[in-house]
Amino acid sequence: MEELFLVNFDTRSLPVEEVDFLVVGSGIAGLYTALTASRDGSKVAVLTKARIDDGNTEKAQGGIAAAIGETDSPALHREDTLLAGAGICDPEAVEILVTEGPDRVRELMRLGAVFDRDAGRLALTREGAHQRRRILHASGDATGAELQRALSTAVLAEGRVRVLENHFVVDLLVREGVFFGALVMDRDHGNLCVFRAGVCVLASGGLGQLYSLSTNPAVATGDGVALAYRAGAEVMDLEFIQFHPTVLHVEGALPFLVSEAVRGEGAYLRNKAGERFMPSYHELAELAPRDVVTRAILSEMDKTGAGEVYLDLSHLDPRMIEKRFPTIGATVSRHGLDLARDPVPVAPCAHYAMGGVKTGLWGQTGVERLYACGETACTGVHGANRLASNSLVDGLVFGRRIVEHAARLGRSPAPREFACSARREAKPAGFNGLKEQLRAMMSRQAGPLRDADGLAGAGRWLDDLVSLNQAALTTAADMELVNMLEVARLVIRAAGARRESRGAHFRRDFPHTGPGWEQHLIFRR
Ligand code: SIN
Repeated sequence: MEELFLVNFDTRSLPVEEVDFLVVGSGIAGLYTALTASRDGSKVAVLTKARIDDGNTEKAQGGIAAAIGETDSPALHREDTLLAGAGICDPEAVEILVTEGPDRVRELMRLGAVFDRDAGRLALTREGAHQRRRILHASGDATGAELQRALSTAVLAEGRVRVLENHFVVDLLVREGVFFGALVMDRDHGNLCVFRAGVCVLASGGLGQLYSLSTNPAVATGDGVALAYRAGAEVMDLEFIQFHPTVLHVEGALPFLVSEAVRGEGAYLRNKAGERFMPSYHELAELAPRDVVTRAILSEMDKTGAGEVYLDLSHLDPRMIEKRFPTIGATVSRHGLDLARDPVPVAPCAHYAMGGVKTGLWGQTGVERLYACGETACTGVHGANRLASNSLVDGLVFGRRIVEHAARLGRSPAPREFACSARREAKPAGFNGLKEQLRAMMSRQAGPLRDADGLAGAGRWLDDLVSLNQAALTTAADMELVNMLEVARLVIRAAGARRESRGAHFRRDFPHTGPGWEQHLIFRR
């Protein structure tokens, strides 16, 4: 997996499009950045490998965190973010997030996003490790769908932003450390083309699909990290993968998130024996940081020999449950369960990558004119464990800063013609069944509990696949799989190198948080 490009190509024989801003990804980070970039008259293209709303934003339930409540403040939000991040958040990035977040959320409302209200005032809920009610939500538990709707509507109404669906970015074009274009496959026709651009923003979401069970949609395959890494940018904190504690666990059902806001409104977690166990693990009980709740659940599952624990809402007001959680209620009822009365079986599964493409406080990567934003990026704002509902606001805050920084860059260097041989041969890729094997291996060895033997075995397994490096890649699906293998390798390498436990990264063989490990693991090819 050391090839610089996934395919052989020569820009002189490909159609070329020119734009000022190229945005990869169409979730909150991509669409908001595109919209903001277009305001000074810039020509913007948003490339998305599936449909505009196929990403994680659309699926977000709990909400978006911002210190706007009367008894809240950015200082309290900062405290909670730093505490959840387990000692390695970048304090400056956190300060920016919590102070700029409220204005970005107000801007979203001006753009048309409608949040829930109680008696005319914004309704705020609580989630794990927040000291205050500071999570805005929409249609009860369908916050992401509302934000995606509002941003998609605004972007599609903006003549200077073109959204190209089913466009897969194969590789970034970089010369002498400066980004100047992207090689893109139009998936509908299988054709390659080049986008020359003054600036590129990677906002392609996370990597949950590296795991067999994930809350993430099929598109979350870590493409942004793989693209940036191949292009020479640094990646950071990839060992920190967040496992959401409460994902519906019903035979035959696809993983479905049961929002942390359910616990924020008072739900209990009970084990198979019906015992409420969280108070014996953490003083915040069900509202402890997410990594703590996940490990507590795994320990209870282990103790009781069950594949799940249960969310219990039976002591809560059924009218509140109906109003706050209509989507979750409808989904569990399709499995014969009544959210207000029945114990709801849940188990942890992969949810969010704290790590990603290393960026500065303006979203800039180590490659000039290349930026990253949202889950693809790693400013260090989330440290070793992201505070609930800090991800949507992260995309807004740093998206805005990227546009400000890029405006100071001036004209891009003259575009260059570019020929490339990736030394790829026309032999079959042989990928049959590989994706499932990869996902099973990552779930076993790089899940919430890890150890040296498992990680070393996973590393060897991935190294053995290096021969695929020479395979001819003709479809976006094969290229996506190569991206997944590349990112998996980075996750395994980082997890093997961090010989301590911190936040979402727990090593059975190094169960303590080690002094001297308050640092980031950074890789560059
Ligand atoms: C949830 O609703 O529990 C997910 C929110 C998040 O991941 O921040």
